[in-house]
Amino acid sequence: MKKLRSRAWFDNPDNPDMTALYLERYMNYGITREELQSGKPIIGIAQTGSDLSPCNRHHMVLAQRVREGIREAGGIAFEFPVHPIQETGKRPTAGLDRNLAYLGLVEVLYGYPLDGVVLTIGCDKTTPAMLMGAATVDIPAIALSVGPMLNGWFKGQRTGSGTIIWKAREMMAAGEIGYEEFIELVASSAPSVGYCNTMGTATTMNSLAEALGMQLPGSAAIPAPHKDRAAIAWRTGKRIVDMVHEDLKPSDILTRENFLNAIAVNSAIGGSTNAPVHINAIARHIGVDLSIRDWQTHGHHIPLLVNLQPAGEYLGEDFHRAGGVPAVVNELMKKGLIYENAPTANGQTIGENCRATPILDPDVIRPFETPLTEDAGFIVLSGNLFDNAIMKTSVISPEFRDRYLSNPDDPEAFEGKAVVFDGPEDYHHRIDDPSLQIDEFTLLFMRGAGPIGYPGAAEVVNMRPPSYLIKRGIHSLPCIGDGRQSGTSGSPSILNASPEAAAGGGLALIETGDRVRIDLNTGTANLLVSDEEIARRRAELDAKGGYPFPDHQTPWQEIQRSMVDQLGDGAVLKPAVTYQRIAQSKGLPRDNH
Ligand code: FES
Ligand code: MG
Repeated sequence: MKKLRSRAWFDNPDNPDMTALYLERYMNYGITREELQSGKPIIGIAQTGSDLSPCNRHHMVLAQRVREGIREAGGIAFEFPVHPIQETGKRPTAGLDRNLAYLGLVEVLYGYPLDGVVLTIGCDKTTPAMLMGAATVDIPAIALSVGPMLNGWFKGQRTGSGTIIWKAREMMAAGEIGYEEFIELVASSAPSVGYCNTMGTATTMNSLAEALGMQLPGSAAIPAPHKDRAAIAWRTGKRIVDMVHEDLKPSDILTRENFLNAIAVNSAIGGSTNAPVHINAIARHIGVDLSIRDWQTHGHHIPLLVNLQPAGEYLGEDFHRAGGVPAVVNELMKKGLIYENAPTANGQTIGENCRATPILDPDVIRPFETPLTEDAGFIVLSGNLFDNAIMKTSVISPEFRDRYLSNPDDPEAFEGKAVVFDGPEDYHHRIDDPSLQIDEFTLLFMRGAGPIGYPGAAEVVNMRPPSYLIKRGIHSLPCIGDGRQSGTSGSPSILNASPEAAAGGGLALIETGDRVRIDLNTGTANLLVSDEEIARRRAELDAKGGYPFPDHQTPWQEIQRSMVDQLGDGAVLKPAVTYQRIAQSKGLPRDNH
């Protein structure tokens, strides 16, 4: 059996002084020498819940069941805090903090006496941050979702996290509801502990953590308040102790096949446009070759099976009752769309885990024969505006399709006039200004919203049309930008444009009034302006020192801006990806005294 790394702290016969120093302080709250020197694995519980992180706060309760599971299996639990990441509360973005929490976790997992770790995941960026950190350090690790909130209801209708805001803001813009009803309507979508109950980034990333094999099967979809959630917390705690004895590490689980399975599942669930950013980041930290192009190649042809808002009608409780991720995987498996031999945290393959898991409600999880949409994955676009950007085609509404994609000679392409906004403040200020002459064939551009420009990349690309168009029944316009879009938004936007304007991307050169052509068939997005004019604008921009971004407000903003990669490549810290599997490759850190 492999020697546990925690022994180097607590039972090092070559260095009794240091052993004593390490032991005495951990014993000061009542842990005994017998326990610490028993040879039992020390298991970290990376706690992402706190009062600042309400989506994950229920992990503070679930951690008790995790501890009991760890103890049951013969391990010792050490719970520790993770830098909070709250998607809706953190300014300027929670995206800024994903890499910071990642760095913090790497230091903790590497520098403390931990043999394995339970990663408590939930709110959008907590899942990738935890999986990225575990990938870099590569000690045995298993993820535990906190689970979605119960379904929201308002006047007999389901109200889903985030999605209700996009709808309510249109109703308010159209004068159908006032401020009080707006707040009441939005608050109805958050009725319990847990994360967003729509197929937003949280449900997406928790589902994909399961598809990647990093959670116990069936773990992702259980609503936070259910008894099954606490039960799987206990099982997760038990399982990590065995994983330590088996030396089953992230690098043993996270193969390229697992990532391709995650891409397929993402299409079938109607996953968030943030998924490629985070999944590509995890792949880079574990050293698996995965590119933004893989999302179209391996994901576009997969149909949408899961009928959850924003693309469909149901919410998290319904997804769980219908069978959750294993039922989706099984359905894809029947068509040969899953690598069945991909390993998972419970020691079995994904095929063994999910085969024969039935769909229990065929309206919530559609059988392959009756999908909500065919070809539900992302399209990857490129051209003179950017090297890559993605579009979620599963949310293209019939209205949108009729307006833009119905020319019989050119059915998958559209052209229009650009109206360009420099950041969300500019958009809020001017969107209803009639002098912009926005009509139903205008394309709205948002720039200055990428990982450098808006540090962390803001979810601001999904813009509503001006209220005078909404009143005429135009509910969405094509939106293009170098920022992200909330996973709870149903807009068919072109997002995550890389490189961003602030990194010298083509979006920095576009001007209001330019014509732009988008062709979904060839996967191109081009500014219809002569090469000479583009060169002239480029020279003018360079002379000004590039596309401007606001001053750094914190040290971390400056540090991250200096080394962050673009969204298409996972927005990782570039120097960090050179550190691979450090628990193996770098050995143990030195003693501290
Ligand atoms: Fe935290 Fe959606 S805001 S899960
Ligand atoms: Mg969000």
